[in-house]
Amino acid sequence: MSNAITPTRPDDAGRVAVVVGSTRPNRICGTVAAWTLRHLAANDALRCELVDLAEISLPFLDEPLKPALGRYEREHTRRWSTLVRSYDVFVFVFPQYNWGYPAVLKNALDFLYAEWHDKPAGMVSYGTRGGGKGAAQLREVLQGLHMRPVDDNVEVKITAADVDDVGRLVAPETALRPFVDQVHAMADGLLAASADGQLG
Ligand SMILES: Cc1cc2nc3c(=O)[nH]c(=O)nc-3n(C[C@H](O)[C@H](O)[C@H](O)COP(=O)(O)O)c2cc1C
Repeated sequence: MSNAITPTRPDDAGRVAVVVGSTRPNRICGTVAAWTLRHLAANDALRCELVDLAEISLPFLDEPLKPALGRYEREHTRRWSTLVRSYDVFVFVFPQYNWGYPAVLKNALDFLYAEWHDKPAGMVSYGTRGGGKGAAQLREVLQGLHMRPVDDNVEVKITAADVDDVGRLVAPETALRPFVDQVHAMADGLLAASADGQLG
């Protein structure tokens, strides 16, 4: 049984969740995610929506049974499961925190299991050097969840000159423009991965 809505056309990768992967006040993740969505959505085959973990507002994992069993007791888990099942492709947008990725994102992933299986996944990381260390860690976790991470990911370098005194992007379009081509390459990778999945 498929996890998600089956794409209706061969050139349609289906519903894409652009996950806002940090939740702290003053975060720039919402800005980076909205920018990512806009450039992904330039491709008609990707029907993108934001999924903001701040709005999902999951507690720390509180299910009595391991998620691989799929027997959820908590209403918030059932809601999260239904939402994740409704998407065909995931793009995780997240900062690097201390060489890793945000705990809130790991928690959201750990709540579920089969819901993630076989789905193509892209990553948009950011940090002073592009957040590659966090992305490498997340990639392993996505593989553990049997997702299909694409090779073309986006690493956005945010310099001190790009942010104000509380760390918010001063001129987001200017700061992010050098990375637009990477988003388009990731879109192509996601489409190719979706097409592979439909052959199987
Ligand atoms: C807890 C924490 C750890 C951080 N660790 C790193 C790091 O390892 N490398 C890096 O380049 N930036 C690091 N930063 C800076 C973040 O990249 C920067 O604050 C970014 O805006 C965080 O994303 P957010 O605003 O969406 O939360 C860290 C920031 C925080 C809050």
